[in-house]
Parts: sequence; structure tokens; C-alpha cells
Amino acid sequence: MLSEQSTPVVRATLPAVGAAIDEIATVFYRKLFAAHPDLLRDLFNRANQANGEQRQALAGSIAAFAGMLLDHPDARPDAMLARIAHKHASLGITADQYKIVNEHLLAAISDVLGEAVTPQVADAWDEVYWLMANALIALEARLYEQHGTPEGGTWRPMTVVARHEETPDALALTLRPADGTPAPAFRPGQYVSVQVELPDGARQIRQYSLSSAPGRPEWRITVKRVRAGDGPAGEVSSWLHEQTRVGDVLTASAPFGDLTLPDGDGPLLLASAGIGGTPMLAMLNHLVDSGSSRPVVVVHADRTPTDHAHRDELHALVDELPQAALHLWYEDPGHAAPAPAPSSPSARVTVSAGRADVSALPLPSDVTTYLCGPLPFMRTLRGALLGRGLPPQAIHYEVFGPDLWLGQS
Ligand SMILES: Cc1cc2nc3c(=O)[nH]c(=O)nc-3n(C[C@H](O)[C@H](O)[C@H](O)COP(=O)(O)OP(=O)(O)OC[C@H]3O[C@@H](n4cnc5c(N)ncnc54)[C@H](O)[C@@H]3O)c2cc1C
Ligand code: HEM
Repeated sequence: MLSEQSTPVVRATLPAVGAAIDEIATVFYRKLFAAHPDLLRDLFNRANQANGEQRQALAGSIAAFAGMLLDHPDARPDAMLARIAHKHASLGITADQYKIVNEHLLAAISDVLGEAVTPQVADAWDEVYWLMANALIALEARLYEQHGTPEGGTWRPMTVVARHEETPDALALTLRPADGTPAPAFRPGQYVSVQVELPDGARQIRQYSLSSAPGRPEWRITVKRVRAGDGPAGEVSSWLHEQTRVGDVLTASAPFGDLTLPDGDGPLLLASAGIGGTPMLAMLNHLVDSGSSRPVVVVHADRTPTDHAHRDELHALVDELPQAALHLWYEDPGHAAPAPAPSSPSARVTVSAGRADVSALPLPSDVTTYLCGPLPFMRTLRGALLGRGLPPQAIHYEVFGPDLWLGQS
């Protein structure tokens, strides 16, 4: 809760801070990386810095948090905090690093807003920062504790025990702890961070959803190769495709992520596009392994059947669920190898040409939805589902990058 003296100050200055948030974020990162170049080389995602995505995520979340403190002083934006804390914990962020971020963020606010930042204004924003930082530090400490590791220490060596090129651009890697113990359990929908050392010596970290069944002794991640297009080729995905061989050892975090499938028997809609199908595979594997009879509608969109990673596995999983239907959309369904024939008469599969369209799908009104795919795909589906009267709180999503929706929620 914001103090009595800071509340009017934050209220008066939030519009100015909000309007200048991009500039504040730019100056903040410039200062942070000038003082600590190692953070850009070894912790932050340098592509997100180059393309500007992470800039908006951090500063936008603080402005959103301040707005919530003013509008709903007794509420806590738990969903936003949990999402950030899981990402931070997967990266091994430590409590002492919050002081570094505080110093450069407050300095950036002063630089950009100039004389408007009186000592009273600086104190009020310092208070906002520490309210958010302390909430995150506490959540992250709890996550580290759950994994039984000291703060920030969830990294572990994982041996690549299998490598399979699912499609020309999607590589599945099966991983097992290098000490031969079983891989730690995870909840369906969670991801791990993977760090690699690139040829220039930088250590870069990226997240990959676990696509295998939870509870098995091995993990599987499926990495889509980001080819050069408007920007350069993806650094870590290209490295993983080109360099990893069976027997190599990768460094991965413990499993994290708040977009997980809770137990229950209510109906589900799992809708994904492209490589966004990976967390859905873990969810479906879990439903099959637990003998679930939940009604499940699976929607997946891809460019072509040949580009659809784990296509046969998806058909097989849906086939094993007594109350599941699969709706596939391919922009170019063309020369598809035939899908495996369903073994159970209750399995329903449709294949359509074009982009996914959920407006006419039969869906129960109490369906819980999980979305994962490119932002335009998720926006379209979310809009269509809200248009059908589904409540916003029943629609969950995972973004395969900084969550730019946070600041707008
Ligand atoms: C929770 C979560 C789960 C994920 N799960 C998966 C998964 O299961 N499978 C999967 O494949 N991916 C997944 N991702 C995405 C993954 O973490 C990486 O983002 C992805 O592999 C790309 O990383 P990269 O290093 O190859 O590309 P990067 O090097 O990070 O590049 C990313 C983009 O930035 C562009 N870029 C880089 N530099 C510049 C520049 N100077 N100017 C303009 N543009 C630039 C690149 O062209 C590219 O398009 C997930 C992400 C998250 C957050
Ligand atoms: C109150 C303080 C902080 C806030 C509000 C904050 C907010 C955020 C947000 C919103 C994201 C994006 C989450 C997502 O992916 O959806 C993020 C990611 C990240 N944060 Fe923080 N953060 C804070 C402190 C820190 C600190 C102290 C560090 C360590 C120096 C840090 C390092 C990172 C890194 C490395 C990422 C991933 C970004 C990337 O690699 O592109 N953050 N943070």
C-alpha cells in the first residue's frame, strides 16, 4: 500500500511518467549497461534490447503497478507479479540486483523529467519501486525455496540424450540431468531457461517450454529456428540447431512459469499456432497420462502440415482422450501426408484451409482457454472468444517473448 504522503505525488506525476515511459526506459537501460556491461552480455536478452521489446515490458509494468496502487489501493496485481517473478527466477535474478536497477531507474526518471523531479517526487517513486521490488523479491525467494536451491541457483547441467528434427525448422531435444538422476518434475505449461555461450563469448539465455509429459525422467524442448528476415537470424535458436549433438551438455534452469494447467474436470480449449504448440503438448500429455475424461477442444494453426512440429503426436494424444476434438488450420494445407487414422470413434478431427477461426466452434460457456502463439493470433482468438461472451478471466495466454500485454492490463 502506498503511503499517505506519496499517494497524491504519484497521482500528480503518473501522467508525466507514463507519457515519457519509453524515454525513461531507454535512458535507464543505457545507464544500467554502461555501469554493468556484463548484465547485457550475460543476463539480458540482447535481441530484445536491440528490437526494443524488453524496454516497454519493464517500465510499462512499473507504470501499470503505480496505476493499480492508486485505483485499487488494497488489491495486488498477483497475475502480473507472478508472471514476472517466474521469468526472473528462471534467469536467476537475485535480491541485491534490485538495488542496481533502482539506482539507474530513479536516475533515468530524474534525467528525463528534469526539475519536475523534486526530492519529494523522487521519494514517492522510490516507494512505488520498492513496493513492487519487495513483492517480486518475496515471490522469487519462495520459488527458489520450492526448488531447494539458494537464491538464483537453479542452473543445472543437462545432457542431450536425443535430437530429432521434427520439421525443417523445429528441433526437438531430449534432456536428462548430467548426473544421471531423473529430470525434476514440472507442471504442464512450464518452461525452462537455457543458457548458451555464443562465439563472441556472450552468455545468452532464452526460455523453452517443456513439451514432454510431466513426470517422466527426461525433459523435451522443441526449438524453432528463427531465420533471418526483417532482422538477423536468432542467436540462440540458430546455435542450438547448428551446434547441439547427442551427448552434449546444456545448462538449463529449473522449470518455471505460471501458465499451467490446474487439475479439475472442467472443459478446456487449448489453442496454439506454430511453435506455440509446445506447452499444449505437455498439457495434453498430462491429461492422457492422468486418464482424464475432461472435454477438450484443441485448436492448432500452422503454415503447412509439413511445418507442424509434433503433428502425429498431437493426433495421437487427442485420439487417446475420450472427449477431445482437434481442429487444424493450415494456411496451405496442400501436399499433406495423411494424418494417422483415429482409433476411437469419438475422436473428432477437422482440417481447414486458412487462419484459425473459433467463432463457430462448439464450445461450452464454462470453457477455460489457454492460448499460445504469435501476438496477432492470440489477439484475434481472444477477441473472438470475448465476443462469444467468454469471461476474460477464463482466457489465459503465454507470450514467447517479453509480455507486452502486462503494461496494458
Ligand atoms: C515462456 C517462453 C516460452 C518459450 N517457448 C519456446 C519454445 O517452446 N520453442 C521455441 O522455439 N521458442 C520458445 N520461446 C522463444 C525463445 O525463448 C526465443 O525467444 C527464440 O528461440 C528466439 O531466440 P533467438 O536467440 O534464436 O533469437 P534472438 O537472437 O533473440 O532474436 C529474436 C528476434 O529479434 C530480432 N533481432 C535481433 N537483433 C535485432 C536487431 N538489431 N534489430 C532488429 N531485430 C533484431 C531477430 O531477427 C529475431 O527476429 C519461448 C519464450 C518464452 C518467453
Ligand atoms: C521492480 C523491479 C523490476 C520490475 C518491475 C521488472 C519487470 C520485468 C518485466 C515486466 C519483465 C518481462 C517479463 C516477461 O517476460 O513477460 C522482466 C524481465 C526481465 N527482468 Fe526484470 N524487473 C525488475 C527488476 C529486475 C532486476 C533487478 C533484474 C536484474 C538485473 C531484472 C532483469 C530482468 C531480465 C534479464 C528479464 C528478461 C528480459 C530479457 O531477457 O529480455 N529485472 N522484468
